[in-house]
Amino acid sequence: MATKRKIYIFDTTLRDGEQSPGASLTPDEKLKIARQLEKLNIDVIEAGFPASSLGEMKAVTMIAEHVRKPVICGLSRMIPRDIDACRQALEKAAKKRLHVFLATSQIHREFKLKKDKKEILAMAVQNIKSAVKDFKQIEFSPEDASRTERDFLVQTVRAAIDAGATSINIPDTVGYAIPEEFGDLIRFVIKKNPELGKSIVLSVHCHNDLGLATSNSLAAILAGANQVECTINGIGERAGNASLEELVMTIHTRKDFMNCHTDIKMSEITKASRLVSHLTGMVVQPNKAIVGRNAFWHASGIHQDGVLKKRQTYEIMDPKQIGLSGNQLMLGKLSGKHAFAIRVRKLGFQLAAQEMDQAFTRFKALADKKKYIFDEDLEAILQDEIAKIPETWKLVFMKVVSATGAKPYAEIRLSYEGNIKEAASTGDGPVDACYKAIEKIVHSQAKLIHYGLQSVTGGKDALGEVLVKLEIGGKEVTGRGTSTDIIEASVRAYLFAINKISANPQRATSQPSPV
Ligand code: KIV
Ligand code: ZN
Repeated sequence: MATKRKIYIFDTTLRDGEQSPGASLTPDEKLKIARQLEKLNIDVIEAGFPASSLGEMKAVTMIAEHVRKPVICGLSRMIPRDIDACRQALEKAAKKRLHVFLATSQIHREFKLKKDKKEILAMAVQNIKSAVKDFKQIEFSPEDASRTERDFLVQTVRAAIDAGATSINIPDTVGYAIPEEFGDLIRFVIKKNPELGKSIVLSVHCHNDLGLATSNSLAAILAGANQVECTINGIGERAGNASLEELVMTIHTRKDFMNCHTDIKMSEITKASRLVSHLTGMVVQPNKAIVGRNAFWHASGIHQDGVLKKRQTYEIMDPKQIGLSGNQLMLGKLSGKHAFAIRVRKLGFQLAAQEMDQAFTRFKALADKKKYIFDEDLEAILQDEIAKIPETWKLVFMKVVSATGAKPYAEIRLSYEGNIKEAASTGDGPVDACYKAIEKIVHSQAKLIHYGLQSVTGGKDALGEVLVKLEIGGKEVTGRGTSTDIIEASVRAYLFAINKISANPQRATSQPSPV
C-alpha cells in the first residue's frame, strides 16, 4: 500500500545528464530515452535547453510532441530569448513546464553575473511574470542555493512565488552540502515560505562532487521537499547528479523510515539504465548501487549459502523489482527461434520480423562460442539491433598477431557496397593495429578520444562490450561493439561509429555545455 506523501521524480538525464563530459545525444537518441522515461512513469522530464543549439530545440520539440504522459520541461536562463525558445519548443506538449534559473550566491553574483542583489531580484521577477500567461507551471531555481546567504535565498524564493513560480528548486549546484546541513536549509526555507512542499512544489537538485547527492536529496525529502531532480545512472555535470535508481529504491526499500512513495515503475529501471549507458557511451561502474553489474552478485561462499537458504539474508532488494530476471538463461545452441522470440518479448523488447531474424542469427553465433547465455548477453545483442544503422563498412575478416617482444600486427578486410577492401598495419597494441588498418581503408581521419571495455556478464567466455568515442571533423560520435573476442568487439565499436557518420554526416553532435 502506498504511503501518504508522494515524492515527484523530475528526471534531468536529457539536460543535466547530457552535460556529462563526453555524453552527447542526437535528437533521435533523446527521444528514445524520453520514451523509456515515460515507461518508467517519470513525473517530469527535463528534455533539454532549447536555446542552447538547434539540435536541442529539435530534441525538445520532438519529445514534447511524442511523449504525452509526463510533464515536459525546458530549461531557460532568466532572459527573454531563452524563455521564447522554451515557448516554441514546448508548444505541442500535452503538459509543459518552464524551468528558469538564476544564480543567487555571492560568488556567482559578483564574479559571474556582475549584478547586485536588487538586480537579481528584479531579473527574476520580471522574467517569471512575463512567462505566466504561457506557462501554467513555472519552476524557479536559485542556482548555487546551498552557498547563498539564507536571508537572500528566502527573499528571492518569496519574490519568485509572488511573481508566479509554481515550483521552487533548491540546487546544491557544486555538490558542497552535507546531508544534515542541507536538510536544515530545506526546513528553514519551508519555515519562511510555508506553502512550499504543499501548494508550491519544493524541489531539490543535488550534485555529487563529494559523493553525497543521493544522501542530500534524501535529507531534503525528510525535511519536507516533495520533488527530487535526478538522472539515470547518476550521470551529469562533473561528478554527476543524484541517481534516480538510488533515490527511488531507497524510498521504496526504506518506506518504513522515509514514510513516502514515488510512482516510478521500478521494473523499468534496468532497461533505462542500459539504454542511457548504451546511447551516451558512459559505462556504469560495476559496483554502482542498484544498476551496477555486481549489485546483485554474491561472491562469498558464506553469502551464497545464506542467499540460497533465504534470499533476504544478504539481499535487501529483489533483483526482479528492478527488471533483472536474476536467472541464468537456459537458451543455448539447440534452442529454436520460437523459444528465443518468447524470451526476447519477456525481456520487454519488440522487434520487427527482420530485426528478430538478425538478432537470432547473432544469438546463434554467440551460443556457438559461449557456454552460458545470460539475459544481459541477450540484451546486448538486442540493443545492437535496436540501434541498428546501415552497415556501410562491414567486417569480413580480421587477423591479429600479438606476441611478446614483437610489434602487434593486424590485417583487416572490410566490404563496402559489395567491394572488398583490405589493409594491414602494426600498432602500439592489437587494438591500435586494427584501428590503424581500418583507417588505411576508410580514411575517416577519426581521432580516438575514448575507449572503454567491460564484460557484459561474468566468466571467461563473457561477452565483451567496447564503447568508443571518435572525433571526426571536430564532432564527436560514439560506437559500441560486443563480441566474446574483445579485439573483435573493439573493431565492431569503431566501425559502428564510422557507419553512424556514413549514415548521417549530421549525426555527430558537438554541444557546448549550456550551464
Ligand atoms: O546544478 C544546477 O544548479 C542546475 C540548475 C540549472 C538547476 O543544473
Ligand atoms: Zn545541475
